[in-house]
Amino acid sequence: MQSFIHIESSNYLRAGELGSPADWAFIFGNNNPVALEIGCGIGDFIAQTAAERPDINFIAVDFYNRGCYKTCRRIDGRELRNVRVLREEARQFIVERIPRGSLAAVYINCPDPWPKKKHRKRRLVSRQFMEFLHDYLAPGAEFYFATDFDDYGIDVAGMMAGIEGFENRLAPDLYRHELEGYHLSKYMRKFMAEGKKIYFVHYRRSGAGHKAQGSGEKAE
Ligand SMILES: C[S@@+](CC[C@H](N)C(=O)[O-])C[C@H]1O[C@@H](n2cnc3c(N)ncnc32)[C@H](O)[C@@H]1O
Repeated sequence: MQSFIHIESSNYLRAGELGSPADWAFIFGNNNPVALEIGCGIGDFIAQTAAERPDINFIAVDFYNRGCYKTCRRIDGRELRNVRVLREEARQFIVERIPRGSLAAVYINCPDPWPKKKHRKRRLVSRQFMEFLHDYLAPGAEFYFATDFDDYGIDVAGMMAGIEGFENRLAPDLYRHELEGYHLSKYMRKFMAEGKKIYFVHYRRSGAGHKAQGSGEKAE
């Protein structure tokens, strides 16, 4: 069994010490748009993305202690001031700490695929999850999903096309295997090295809103 690592970093937050919802403008010390990465793993994606976008505040959550520790190491090592890391279950965290209609972007990279048919209902991204998430996205917010798992990618791409309140940013494609300007995570790199294709899905919550949500790609 892996031992629990105590995380000593000013960028590591304990959700229980925050308000409900949390005051992110106070926490970051500015009113910049707030983006969320769910399941940040070791933090390589968020470190690269946040370094490129100091005008966006990034929250990285993962319920994996060692992942949060490594993410903090990366953030601290790069002296990034626009990332906060929390060891939290994503859905509970969103309900308790995120103001409705506030998120400028959400990133989900290589979520656990639950490959066995009988475990599929454990997958994080489903229609129900997206309808839930919709309420927490600001109008115009970006949603990114990436997986190496064929049927997860195809399912999410097909399901998103039928959910009201989202616009496909890759139209006429439902997904792509490359997304210009989008940083690669550890798992993406690992799967690509094994010759697997990544399925990228990119939607926007309908309605006017914030400009540019952090992938290097500019919103119109
Ligand atoms: C396969 S790893 C991918 C890590 C990283 N995104 C990457 O692409 O390299 C999935 C990560 O999501 C985290 N995770 C899965 N479900 C989660 C949930 N409901 N809330 C928070 N973290 C979750 C796991 O702990 C794990 O670190």
